[in-house]
Amino acid sequence: MSIHEKLQKLEEMGRAAEQGGGLERIEAQHERGKLSARERLDLLLDEGSFVELDRFVTHRSSDFGLEDKKFLGDGVVTGYGTIHGRLVYAFSQDFTVFGGSLSETHAEKIVKLQEMAIRNGAPIIGLNDSGGARIQEGVVSLGGYADIFLRNTLASGVIPQISVILGPCAGGAVYSPAITDFVYMVRGTSYMFVTGPNVVKTVTHEDIDMEGLGGADIHASRSGVAHFALDSEPECLASVRELFHYIPQNNTETPPSSPGADPHDRRDEKLLEIVPENPNHPYDMREVVTHVVDDGAFYEVHERFAGNLLVGFAHLGGHPVGIVANQPAVLAGVLDIDSSDKGARFVRFCDAFNIPLVVLEDVPGFLPGVAQEHGGIIRHGAKLLYAFAEATVPKITVITRKAYGGAYDVMNSKHIRGDVNLAWPQAEIAVMGPKGAVEVLFRKEIAASDDPQAATDARIEEYREKFAHPYIAAARGYVDDVIDPRETRPRLISALDMLRNKRDENPLKKHGNIPL
Ligand code: HXC
Repeated sequence: MSIHEKLQKLEEMGRAAEQGGGLERIEAQHERGKLSARERLDLLLDEGSFVELDRFVTHRSSDFGLEDKKFLGDGVVTGYGTIHGRLVYAFSQDFTVFGGSLSETHAEKIVKLQEMAIRNGAPIIGLNDSGGARIQEGVVSLGGYADIFLRNTLASGVIPQISVILGPCAGGAVYSPAITDFVYMVRGTSYMFVTGPNVVKTVTHEDIDMEGLGGADIHASRSGVAHFALDSEPECLASVRELFHYIPQNNTETPPSSPGADPHDRRDEKLLEIVPENPNHPYDMREVVTHVVDDGAFYEVHERFAGNLLVGFAHLGGHPVGIVANQPAVLAGVLDIDSSDKGARFVRFCDAFNIPLVVLEDVPGFLPGVAQEHGGIIRHGAKLLYAFAEATVPKITVITRKAYGGAYDVMNSKHIRGDVNLAWPQAEIAVMGPKGAVEVLFRKEIAASDDPQAATDARIEEYREKFAHPYIAAARGYVDDVIDPRETRPRLISALDMLRNKRDENPLKKHGNIPL
Protein backbone atom coordinates (compact mmCIF):
# COMPACT_ATOMS: atom_id res chain seq x y z
CA MET A 1 0.00 0.00 0.00
CA SER A 2 1.41 3.40 -0.95
CA ILE A 3 1.57 6.24 1.57
CA HIS A 4 -1.28 7.93 -0.27
CA GLU A 5 -3.46 4.84 0.09
CA LYS A 6 -2.50 4.67 3.77
CA LEU A 7 -3.41 8.31 4.20
CA GLN A 8 -6.75 7.67 2.55
CA LYS A 9 -7.42 4.83 4.98
CA LEU A 10 -6.47 7.09 7.90
CA GLU A 11 -8.88 9.71 6.61
CA GLU A 12 -11.70 7.18 6.28
CA MET A 13 -11.11 5.90 9.79
CA GLY A 14 -11.03 9.47 11.09
CA ARG A 15 -14.39 10.13 9.44
CA ALA A 16 -15.82 6.95 10.96
CA ALA A 17 -14.58 7.99 14.40
CA GLU A 18 -16.21 11.39 13.98
CA GLN A 19 -19.57 9.81 13.29
CA GLY A 20 -19.63 7.92 16.61
CA GLY A 21 -22.64 5.59 16.60
CA GLY A 22 -23.74 6.89 13.16
CA LEU A 23 -25.56 9.82 11.62
CA GLU A 24 -28.99 8.40 12.45
CA ARG A 25 -28.22 8.29 16.14
CA ILE A 26 -26.72 11.79 16.02
CA GLU A 27 -29.99 12.93 14.45
CA ALA A 28 -31.94 11.22 17.25
CA GLN A 29 -29.74 13.06 19.74
CA HIS A 30 -30.60 16.37 18.05
CA GLU A 31 -34.29 15.53 18.09
CA ARG A 32 -34.11 15.26 21.86
CA GLY A 33 -32.67 18.77 22.06
CA LYS A 34 -29.17 17.43 22.72
CA LEU A 35 -25.94 18.11 20.87
CA SER A 36 -23.46 15.46 19.78
CA ALA A 37 -20.31 14.81 21.81
CA ARG A 38 -18.18 16.69 19.27
CA GLU A 39 -20.55 19.64 18.86
CA ARG A 40 -20.36 20.10 22.62
CA LEU A 41 -16.56 20.19 22.57
CA ASP A 42 -16.70 22.76 19.76
CA LEU A 43 -18.82 25.06 21.94
CA LEU A 44 -16.77 24.47 25.07
CA LEU A 45 -13.30 25.07 23.66
CA ASP A 46 -11.68 27.92 21.73
CA GLU A 47 -12.41 27.54 18.03
CA GLY A 48 -10.16 24.98 16.36
CA SER A 49 -8.16 24.28 19.50
CA PHE A 50 -9.30 20.71 20.20
CA VAL A 51 -6.74 17.95 19.69
CA GLU A 52 -8.20 14.47 19.97
CA LEU A 53 -6.47 11.50 21.58
CA ASP A 54 -7.31 7.79 21.34
CA ARG A 55 -9.84 8.10 18.54
CA PHE A 56 -9.07 4.54 17.34
CA VAL A 57 -9.69 2.83 20.67
CA THR A 58 -12.34 0.08 20.60
CA HIS A 59 -13.77 -2.14 23.32
CA ARG A 60 -12.35 -5.61 24.09
CA SER A 61 -15.58 -7.38 24.92
CA SER A 62 -16.97 -10.35 23.02
CA ASP A 63 -20.03 -11.06 25.16
CA PHE A 64 -23.64 -10.56 24.02
CA GLY A 65 -22.56 -10.22 20.39
CA LEU A 66 -20.31 -7.27 21.06
CA GLU A 67 -17.40 -8.70 19.05
CA ASP A 68 -19.07 -7.53 15.82
CA LYS A 69 -20.20 -4.20 17.18
CA LYS A 70 -17.26 -1.86 17.51
CA PHE A 71 -17.22 1.90 17.19
CA LEU A 72 -14.00 3.90 16.96
CA GLY A 73 -13.46 5.86 20.17
CA ASP A 74 -15.77 3.53 22.13
CA GLY A 75 -18.28 6.10 23.30
CA VAL A 76 -16.09 8.90 24.57
CA VAL A 77 -14.18 11.66 22.78
CA THR A 78 -11.08 12.70 24.74
CA GLY A 79 -8.38 15.29 24.21
CA TYR A 80 -7.13 18.75 25.03
CA GLY A 81 -7.70 22.29 23.84
CA THR A 82 -7.88 25.81 25.21
CA ILE A 83 -10.40 28.08 26.93
CA HIS A 84 -9.48 31.79 26.66
CA GLY A 85 -6.13 30.58 25.36
CA ARG A 86 -5.35 28.41 28.40
CA LEU A 87 -4.86 24.64 28.28
CA VAL A 88 -7.70 22.37 29.45
CA TYR A 89 -8.35 18.64 29.11
CA ALA A 90 -11.84 17.50 28.20
CA PHE A 91 -13.77 14.31 27.62
CA SER A 92 -17.20 14.12 26.06
CA GLN A 93 -19.28 10.96 26.36
CA ASP A 94 -21.02 9.93 23.15
CA PHE A 95 -24.55 8.70 23.78
CA THR A 96 -24.77 7.43 20.19
CA VAL A 97 -22.34 4.61 21.04
CA PHE A 98 -23.98 2.07 23.39
CA GLY A 99 -25.75 4.93 25.17
CA GLY A 100 -22.38 6.45 26.17
CA SER A 101 -21.98 3.52 28.55
CA LEU A 102 -18.63 3.05 30.22
CA SER A 103 -16.53 0.07 29.14
CA GLU A 104 -13.04 -0.88 30.25
CA THR A 105 -11.46 1.02 27.34
CA HIS A 106 -13.82 4.01 27.67
CA ALA A 107 -12.67 4.26 31.30
CA GLU A 108 -9.02 3.88 30.30
CA LYS A 109 -9.32 6.85 27.95
CA ILE A 110 -10.73 9.03 30.73
CA VAL A 111 -8.11 7.86 33.23
CA LYS A 112 -5.32 8.62 30.74
CA LEU A 113 -6.68 12.15 30.40
CA GLN A 114 -6.99 12.60 34.16
CA GLU A 115 -3.37 11.55 34.64
CA MET A 116 -2.20 13.92 31.90
CA ALA A 117 -4.16 16.77 33.45
CA ILE A 118 -2.65 16.14 36.89
CA ARG A 119 0.89 15.75 35.48
CA ASN A 120 0.65 18.88 33.35
CA GLY A 121 -1.26 20.99 35.85
CA ALA A 122 -4.34 21.91 33.84
CA PRO A 123 -8.09 21.71 34.57
CA ILE A 124 -10.19 18.79 33.35
CA ILE A 125 -13.78 19.06 32.18
CA GLY A 126 -16.07 16.04 31.82
CA LEU A 127 -19.13 16.25 29.57
CA ASN A 128 -21.32 13.42 30.86
CA ASP A 129 -24.04 11.74 28.83
CA SER A 130 -24.10 8.05 29.66
CA GLY A 131 -26.25 5.07 30.53
CA GLY A 132 -23.66 4.12 33.17
CA ALA A 133 -21.64 0.94 33.43
CA ARG A 134 -21.54 -1.04 30.12
CA ILE A 135 -23.80 -3.89 31.13
CA GLN A 136 -22.11 -6.44 28.85
CA GLU A 137 -18.75 -5.86 30.57
CA GLY A 138 -19.88 -6.47 34.14
CA VAL A 139 -17.35 -5.96 36.90
CA VAL A 140 -14.67 -4.73 34.47
CA SER A 141 -16.82 -1.69 33.87
CA LEU A 142 -17.35 -1.17 37.59
CA GLY A 143 -13.56 -1.33 38.00
CA GLY A 144 -13.26 1.34 35.32
CA TYR A 145 -15.49 3.67 37.33
CA ALA A 146 -13.43 3.06 40.46
CA ASP A 147 -10.27 3.90 38.49
CA ILE A 148 -11.86 7.24 37.56
CA PHE A 149 -13.05 7.93 41.12
CA LEU A 150 -9.52 7.37 42.42
CA ARG A 151 -8.05 9.90 39.96
CA ASN A 152 -10.87 12.36 40.80
CA THR A 153 -9.85 12.10 44.43
CA LEU A 154 -6.12 12.40 43.77
CA ALA A 155 -6.71 15.40 41.50
CA SER A 156 -8.93 17.14 44.08
CA GLY A 157 -7.23 20.34 45.23
CA VAL A 158 -4.49 19.91 42.60
CA ILE A 159 -6.32 20.87 39.39
CA PRO A 160 -9.85 22.25 38.99
CA GLN A 161 -12.29 19.51 37.93
CA ILE A 162 -15.57 20.45 36.30
CA SER A 163 -18.48 18.12 35.50
CA VAL A 164 -21.15 19.02 32.98
CA ILE A 165 -24.17 16.71 32.99
CA LEU A 166 -25.84 16.67 29.57
CA GLY A 167 -27.88 13.47 29.69
CA PRO A 168 -28.38 10.60 32.10
CA CYS A 169 -25.90 10.13 34.93
CA ALA A 170 -27.14 7.35 37.18
CA GLY A 171 -26.10 4.79 39.74
CA GLY A 172 -22.56 4.86 41.07
CA ALA A 173 -21.59 6.93 38.03
CA VAL A 174 -22.82 10.03 39.87
CA TYR A 175 -19.89 9.83 42.24
CA SER A 176 -17.32 11.07 39.77
CA PRO A 177 -19.13 14.40 39.27
CA ALA A 178 -19.87 14.48 43.00
CA ILE A 179 -16.15 14.53 43.81
CA THR A 180 -15.37 17.25 41.26
CA ASP A 181 -15.42 20.95 42.09
CA PHE A 182 -18.37 22.23 40.06
CA VAL A 183 -21.38 20.44 38.57
CA TYR A 184 -23.38 22.04 35.73
CA MET A 185 -26.76 20.69 34.54
CA VAL A 186 -29.28 21.51 31.80
CA ARG A 187 -33.02 21.71 32.44
CA GLY A 188 -35.08 19.04 30.74
CA THR A 189 -32.24 16.89 29.40
CA SER A 190 -29.89 16.04 32.25
CA TYR A 191 -30.57 13.80 35.23
CA MET A 192 -28.59 12.55 38.19
CA PHE A 193 -29.78 9.91 40.61
CA VAL A 194 -28.44 6.90 42.45
CA THR A 195 -31.61 4.93 41.66
CA GLY A 196 -34.12 5.97 39.03
CA PRO A 197 -37.91 6.52 39.31
CA ASN A 198 -38.75 2.81 38.77
CA VAL A 199 -36.56 1.59 41.63
CA VAL A 200 -37.84 4.39 43.85
CA LYS A 201 -41.41 3.29 43.10
CA THR A 202 -40.62 -0.33 43.96
CA VAL A 203 -38.74 0.40 47.16
CA THR A 204 -40.51 3.39 48.69
CA HIS A 205 -43.76 3.47 46.66
CA GLU A 206 -43.10 7.10 45.77
CA ASP A 207 -44.27 8.27 42.35
CA ILE A 208 -41.88 10.69 40.73
CA ASP A 209 -40.54 11.39 37.24
CA MET A 210 -36.91 11.83 36.15
CA GLU A 211 -37.03 15.64 36.28
CA GLY A 212 -38.61 15.68 39.73
CA LEU A 213 -36.22 13.10 41.11
CA GLY A 214 -32.93 14.25 39.68
CA GLY A 215 -33.36 17.09 37.18
CA ALA A 216 -31.31 20.27 37.03
CA ASP A 217 -33.66 22.42 39.11
CA ILE A 218 -34.00 19.97 41.95
CA HIS A 219 -30.23 19.51 42.23
CA ALA A 220 -29.55 23.23 41.91
CA SER A 221 -32.09 24.25 44.55
CA ARG A 222 -32.85 21.34 46.90
CA SER A 223 -30.04 18.80 47.05
CA GLY A 224 -27.20 21.18 46.25
CA VAL A 225 -25.60 18.50 44.05
CA ALA A 226 -25.52 20.90 41.08
CA HIS A 227 -23.92 24.33 41.32
CA PHE A 228 -25.47 25.60 38.08
CA ALA A 229 -28.70 24.89 36.16
CA LEU A 230 -29.01 26.32 32.65
CA ASP A 231 -31.78 26.31 30.04
CA SER A 232 -29.82 24.90 27.11
CA GLU A 233 -26.55 23.17 26.29
CA PRO A 234 -25.04 26.22 24.52
CA GLU A 235 -25.85 28.41 27.56
CA CYS A 236 -24.43 25.78 29.86
CA LEU A 237 -21.15 25.44 27.98
CA ALA A 238 -20.85 29.24 27.73
CA SER A 239 -21.24 29.41 31.50
CA VAL A 240 -18.44 26.87 31.98
CA ARG A 241 -16.20 29.07 29.80
CA GLU A 242 -17.06 32.05 32.00
CA LEU A 243 -15.88 30.20 35.10
CA PHE A 244 -12.41 30.13 33.55
CA HIS A 245 -12.11 33.92 34.00
CA TYR A 246 -11.77 33.25 37.72
CA ILE A 247 -9.84 30.02 38.29
CA PRO A 248 -6.16 29.17 37.96
CA GLN A 249 -4.66 26.22 36.09
CA ASN A 250 -3.67 24.37 39.23
CA ASN A 251 -2.89 24.69 42.94
CA THR A 252 0.57 26.19 42.36
CA GLU A 253 -0.62 29.04 40.16
CA THR A 254 -2.53 32.23 40.81
CA PRO A 255 -5.78 32.89 38.94
CA PRO A 256 -5.69 34.97 35.72
CA SER A 257 -5.74 38.73 36.23
CA SER A 258 -6.00 41.83 34.06
CA PRO A 259 -5.64 45.55 34.81
CA GLY A 260 -9.46 45.95 34.86
CA ALA A 261 -11.29 49.00 33.52
CA ASP A 262 -13.28 49.82 36.69
CA PRO A 263 -11.30 52.48 38.65
CA HIS A 264 -9.67 51.00 41.74
CA ASP A 265 -10.46 54.11 43.80
CA ARG A 266 -14.14 54.25 42.83
CA ARG A 267 -16.31 55.32 45.78
CA ASP A 268 -19.91 54.20 45.51
CA GLU A 269 -22.62 56.49 46.92
CA LYS A 270 -25.27 53.75 46.66
CA LEU A 271 -23.51 51.82 49.44
CA LEU A 272 -24.84 54.42 51.92
CA GLU A 273 -28.43 53.57 51.03
CA ILE A 274 -28.56 49.79 50.89
CA VAL A 275 -28.62 48.94 54.60
CA PRO A 276 -31.97 50.09 56.08
CA GLU A 277 -31.98 52.25 59.23
CA ASN A 278 -34.10 49.69 61.05
CA PRO A 279 -31.71 46.83 61.88
CA ASN A 280 -34.54 44.33 61.57
CA HIS A 281 -35.34 45.20 57.97
CA PRO A 282 -33.90 43.04 55.21
CA TYR A 283 -31.84 44.15 52.22
CA ASP A 284 -30.25 42.40 49.27
CA MET A 285 -26.55 41.72 49.90
CA ARG A 286 -26.20 40.99 46.17
CA GLU A 287 -26.55 44.76 45.69
CA VAL A 288 -23.61 45.37 47.99
CA VAL A 289 -21.55 42.83 46.06
CA THR A 290 -22.33 44.30 42.65
CA HIS A 291 -21.66 47.89 43.76
CA VAL A 292 -18.24 46.91 45.12
CA VAL A 293 -16.73 44.48 42.59
CA ASP A 294 -15.29 45.30 39.14
CA ASP A 295 -17.98 46.26 36.64
CA GLY A 296 -20.72 44.84 38.89
CA ALA A 297 -19.97 41.32 37.58
CA PHE A 298 -20.72 38.55 40.09
CA TYR A 299 -20.44 34.93 38.90
CA GLU A 300 -22.69 33.38 41.47
CA VAL A 301 -22.23 29.72 42.43
CA HIS A 302 -25.09 27.68 43.91
CA GLU A 303 -27.38 30.65 43.22
CA ARG A 304 -30.61 28.85 44.10
CA PHE A 305 -29.35 26.60 46.91
CA ALA A 306 -29.28 27.91 50.50
CA GLY A 307 -30.07 31.48 49.48
CA ASN A 308 -29.25 32.79 52.96
CA LEU A 309 -25.56 32.68 52.02
CA LEU A 310 -24.21 33.99 48.72
CA VAL A 311 -21.03 32.53 47.26
CA GLY A 312 -19.37 33.22 43.94
CA PHE A 313 -16.53 34.78 42.03
CA ALA A 314 -15.83 38.38 41.08
CA HIS A 315 -12.86 40.58 40.25
CA LEU A 316 -11.48 43.33 42.46
CA GLY A 317 -8.88 45.55 40.84
CA GLY A 318 -8.64 42.99 38.03
CA HIS A 319 -7.87 40.05 40.34
CA PRO A 320 -10.31 37.19 40.98
CA VAL A 321 -11.73 36.83 44.48
CA GLY A 322 -14.16 34.42 46.10
CA ILE A 323 -17.11 36.22 47.71
CA VAL A 324 -18.87 34.70 50.72
CA ALA A 325 -21.74 36.87 51.94
CA ASN A 326 -24.64 36.50 54.33
CA GLN A 327 -27.91 37.36 52.62
CA PRO A 328 -30.26 39.30 54.98
CA ALA A 329 -33.02 39.06 52.34
CA VAL A 330 -33.36 35.29 52.97
CA LEU A 331 -34.02 33.98 56.50
CA ALA A 332 -32.45 37.22 57.79
CA GLY A 333 -29.08 35.84 56.69
CA VAL A 334 -28.84 33.16 59.40
CA LEU A 335 -26.43 30.29 59.02
CA ASP A 336 -28.09 26.88 58.76
CA ILE A 337 -27.15 23.38 57.66
CA ASP A 338 -27.26 23.92 53.90
CA SER A 339 -25.62 27.34 53.91
CA SER A 340 -22.79 26.00 56.09
CA ASP A 341 -22.16 23.15 53.64
CA LYS A 342 -22.37 25.53 50.69
CA GLY A 343 -19.99 28.05 52.22
CA ALA A 344 -17.48 25.48 53.45
CA ARG A 345 -17.12 23.80 50.08
CA PHE A 346 -16.64 27.13 48.31
CA VAL A 347 -14.11 28.41 50.85
CA ARG A 348 -12.09 25.21 50.47
CA PHE A 349 -12.11 25.51 46.67
CA CYS A 350 -10.81 29.07 46.88
CA ASP A 351 -8.18 28.13 49.45
CA ALA A 352 -6.99 25.15 47.40
CA PHE A 353 -6.64 27.30 44.30
CA ASN A 354 -5.12 30.52 45.68
CA ILE A 355 -8.20 32.68 45.27
CA PRO A 356 -8.44 35.36 48.01
CA LEU A 357 -11.64 35.39 50.05
CA VAL A 358 -13.80 38.45 50.64
CA VAL A 359 -16.51 38.04 53.26
CA LEU A 360 -19.47 40.41 53.56
CA GLU A 361 -21.03 39.77 56.93
CA ASP A 362 -24.52 40.43 58.24
CA VAL A 363 -25.48 37.44 60.32
CA PRO A 364 -27.84 37.26 63.31
CA GLY A 365 -26.53 33.81 64.31
CA PHE A 366 -27.30 30.15 63.61
CA LEU A 367 -30.87 29.11 62.81
CA PRO A 368 -32.67 27.81 65.90
CA GLY A 369 -35.07 24.85 65.75
CA VAL A 370 -35.54 21.14 66.27
CA ALA A 371 -35.06 20.35 62.59
CA GLN A 372 -31.73 22.13 62.52
CA GLU A 373 -30.47 20.63 65.78
CA HIS A 374 -31.56 17.12 64.85
CA GLY A 375 -30.25 17.59 61.32
CA GLY A 376 -26.81 18.25 62.75
CA ILE A 377 -26.34 22.02 62.60
CA ILE A 378 -23.48 21.49 65.07
CA ARG A 379 -21.69 19.17 62.67
CA HIS A 380 -22.50 21.21 59.57
CA GLY A 381 -21.81 24.64 61.07
CA ALA A 382 -18.43 23.28 62.13
CA LYS A 383 -17.54 22.73 58.47
CA LEU A 384 -17.76 26.42 57.68
CA LEU A 385 -15.80 27.32 60.79
CA TYR A 386 -13.15 24.72 59.96
CA ALA A 387 -12.94 25.84 56.33
CA PHE A 388 -12.37 29.49 57.20
CA ALA A 389 -9.96 28.64 60.00
CA GLU A 390 -7.74 26.38 57.90
CA ALA A 391 -7.69 28.68 54.84
CA THR A 392 -4.35 30.37 54.24
CA VAL A 393 -5.25 32.56 51.25
CA PRO A 394 -5.73 36.30 51.88
CA LYS A 395 -8.96 36.63 53.88
CA ILE A 396 -10.82 39.91 54.27
CA THR A 397 -14.10 40.57 56.09
CA VAL A 398 -16.40 43.57 55.95
CA ILE A 399 -19.13 43.58 58.61
CA THR A 400 -22.00 45.51 57.06
CA ARG A 401 -24.43 45.10 59.96
CA LYS A 402 -24.95 42.18 62.35
CA ALA A 403 -22.17 39.94 63.60
CA TYR A 404 -23.75 38.06 66.44
CA GLY A 405 -22.79 35.05 68.52
CA GLY A 406 -20.85 32.08 67.20
CA ALA A 407 -21.55 33.27 63.68
CA TYR A 408 -19.28 36.28 64.38
CA ASP A 409 -16.41 33.89 65.03
CA VAL A 410 -17.23 31.65 62.09
CA MET A 411 -17.50 34.32 59.39
CA ASN A 412 -13.76 34.79 59.02
CA SER A 413 -13.19 36.70 62.24
CA LYS A 414 -9.76 38.03 63.15
CA HIS A 415 -9.46 35.19 65.67
CA ILE A 416 -9.42 32.54 62.96
CA ARG A 417 -6.80 34.36 60.91
CA GLY A 418 -8.88 36.95 59.07
CA ASP A 419 -6.16 39.22 57.63
CA VAL A 420 -8.07 42.49 57.33
CA ASN A 421 -11.39 42.90 59.12
CA LEU A 422 -13.36 46.06 58.52
CA ALA A 423 -16.74 47.23 59.79
CA TRP A 424 -19.28 49.72 58.54
CA PRO A 425 -20.55 52.21 61.16
CA GLN A 426 -23.89 50.32 61.29
CA ALA A 427 -22.11 47.15 62.47
CA GLU A 428 -23.42 45.47 65.62
CA ILE A 429 -20.96 43.01 67.12
CA ALA A 430 -22.08 41.19 70.26
CA VAL A 431 -22.95 37.85 71.82
CA MET A 432 -26.56 38.21 70.75
CA GLY A 433 -29.11 40.74 69.48
CA PRO A 434 -30.57 43.30 71.93
CA LYS A 435 -33.97 41.63 72.35
CA GLY A 436 -32.59 38.18 73.12
CA ALA A 437 -29.96 39.58 75.47
CA VAL A 438 -32.47 41.62 77.46
CA GLU A 439 -34.80 38.63 77.80
CA VAL A 440 -31.97 36.58 79.31
CA LEU A 441 -30.44 39.23 81.54
CA PHE A 442 -33.52 41.09 82.79
CA ARG A 443 -36.31 38.49 82.70
CA LYS A 444 -37.09 38.77 86.40
CA GLU A 445 -36.81 42.56 86.47
CA ILE A 446 -39.14 42.91 83.48
CA ALA A 447 -41.67 40.45 84.94
CA ALA A 448 -41.76 42.42 88.19
CA SER A 449 -42.17 45.79 86.49
CA ASP A 450 -45.52 47.63 86.29
CA ASP A 451 -45.01 48.19 82.60
CA PRO A 452 -43.07 45.21 81.16
CA GLN A 453 -43.01 46.63 77.63
CA ALA A 454 -41.57 49.96 78.73
CA ALA A 455 -39.02 48.17 80.93
CA THR A 456 -38.00 45.95 78.00
CA ASP A 457 -37.68 48.89 75.62
CA ALA A 458 -35.54 50.80 78.08
CA ARG A 459 -33.19 47.87 78.59
CA ILE A 460 -33.00 47.24 74.84
CA GLU A 461 -32.03 50.88 74.27
CA GLU A 462 -29.41 50.62 76.99
CA TYR A 463 -28.02 47.40 75.47
CA ARG A 464 -27.97 48.94 71.99
CA GLU A 465 -25.94 51.88 73.18
CA LYS A 466 -23.51 49.65 75.01
CA PHE A 467 -23.01 46.80 72.52
CA ALA A 468 -24.76 47.33 69.18
CA HIS A 469 -21.86 49.08 67.43
CA PRO A 470 -18.41 48.21 66.13
CA TYR A 471 -16.28 50.25 68.52
CA ILE A 472 -15.70 47.67 71.28
CA ALA A 473 -14.35 45.29 68.62
CA ALA A 474 -12.34 48.14 67.09
CA ALA A 475 -10.89 49.11 70.49
CA ARG A 476 -9.59 45.55 70.81
CA GLY A 477 -8.26 45.41 67.25
CA TYR A 478 -10.76 42.66 66.38
CA VAL A 479 -11.73 44.90 63.51
CA ASP A 480 -8.86 46.81 61.95
CA ASP A 481 -10.94 49.83 61.04
CA VAL A 482 -14.45 51.23 60.89
CA ILE A 483 -14.92 52.62 57.39
CA ASP A 484 -17.26 54.77 55.36
CA PRO A 485 -19.30 52.23 53.34
CA ARG A 486 -18.63 54.27 50.19
CA GLU A 487 -14.92 53.48 50.62
CA THR A 488 -15.44 49.71 50.62
CA ARG A 489 -14.12 49.03 47.12
CA PRO A 490 -10.88 51.02 47.41
CA ARG A 491 -10.25 49.60 50.89
CA LEU A 492 -10.74 46.02 49.68
CA ILE A 493 -8.48 46.53 46.67
CA SER A 494 -5.82 48.13 48.84
CA ALA A 495 -6.01 45.24 51.35
CA LEU A 496 -5.77 42.66 48.56
CA ASP A 497 -2.73 44.43 47.10
CA MET A 498 -1.15 44.53 50.54
CA LEU A 499 -1.77 40.78 50.97
CA ARG A 500 -0.58 39.77 47.51
CA ASN A 501 2.57 38.05 48.86
CA LYS A 502 0.95 36.62 51.98
CA ARG A 503 2.65 33.52 53.33
CA ASP A 504 0.88 31.40 55.87
CA GLU A 505 0.77 27.70 56.51
CA ASN A 506 -0.83 25.07 58.68
CA PRO A 507 1.05 22.53 60.84
CA LEU A 508 2.44 19.57 58.91
CA LYS A 509 -0.15 16.82 58.80
CA LYS A 510 -1.35 14.01 56.56
CA HIS A 511 -4.68 15.78 56.33
CA GLY A 512 -7.09 17.40 58.74
CA ASN A 513 -10.29 15.76 59.90
CA ILE A 514 -12.98 18.24 58.83
CA PRO A 515 -16.32 17.30 60.44
CA LEU A 516 -18.14 15.76 57.47
C1 HXC B 1 -24.85 -1.01 27.59
C2 HXC B 1 -26.47 0.54 27.14
C3 HXC B 1 -26.47 0.96 28.48
C4 HXC B 1 -25.58 0.31 29.39
C5 HXC B 1 -27.90 2.13 27.41
N1 HXC B 1 -27.37 1.29 26.52
N2 HXC B 1 -27.37 1.95 28.63
N3 HXC B 1 -25.67 -0.44 26.71
N4 HXC B 1 -24.80 -0.66 28.90
N5 HXC B 1 -25.51 0.68 30.68
C6 HXC B 1 -27.67 1.19 25.10
C7 HXC B 1 -29.07 0.65 24.85
O1 HXC B 1 -29.08 -0.75 24.83
C8 HXC B 1 -29.36 1.25 23.47
O2 HXC B 1 -28.69 0.48 22.52
C9 HXC B 1 -28.64 2.58 23.52
O3 HXC B 1 -27.66 2.48 24.56
C10 HXC B 1 -29.54 3.74 23.86
O4 HXC B 1 -30.30 3.40 25.00
P1 HXC B 1 -31.87 3.58 25.07
O5 HXC B 1 -32.34 2.80 26.23
O6 HXC B 1 -32.47 3.26 23.74
O7 HXC B 1 -32.00 5.13 25.33
P2 HXC B 1 -33.04 5.91 26.23
O8 HXC B 1 -34.41 5.44 25.97
O9 HXC B 1 -32.74 7.35 26.04
O10 HXC B 1 -32.66 5.53 27.74
C11 HXC B 1 -31.44 5.90 28.25
C12 HXC B 1 -31.24 5.23 29.63
C13 HXC B 1 -31.49 3.70 29.49
C14 HXC B 1 -32.21 5.87 30.62
C15 HXC B 1 -29.82 5.55 30.07
O11 HXC B 1 -30.76 3.20 28.37
C16 HXC B 1 -31.07 2.95 30.72
O12 HXC B 1 -31.83 2.89 31.69
N6 HXC B 1 -29.89 2.33 30.66
C17 HXC B 1 -29.40 1.53 31.75
C18 HXC B 1 -29.02 2.42 32.88
C19 HXC B 1 -28.38 1.66 34.02
O13 HXC B 1 -29.10 1.02 34.80
N7 HXC B 1 -27.07 1.65 34.04
C20 HXC B 1 -26.33 1.00 35.02
C21 HXC B 1 -26.36 1.95 36.20
S1 HXC B 1 -25.39 1.38 37.51
P3 HXC B 1 -29.37 0.16 21.11
O14 HXC B 1 -28.32 -0.63 20.37
O15 HXC B 1 -30.61 -0.61 21.38
O16 HXC B 1 -29.67 1.48 20.49
C22 HXC B 1 -23.91 1.95 37.14
C23 HXC B 1 -22.89 1.54 38.12
C24 HXC B 1 -21.72 2.44 38.08
O17 HXC B 1 -23.69 2.61 36.21
C25 HXC B 1 -20.70 1.85 38.97
C26 HXC B 1 -19.97 2.87 39.75
C27 HXC B 1 -19.67 2.41 41.13
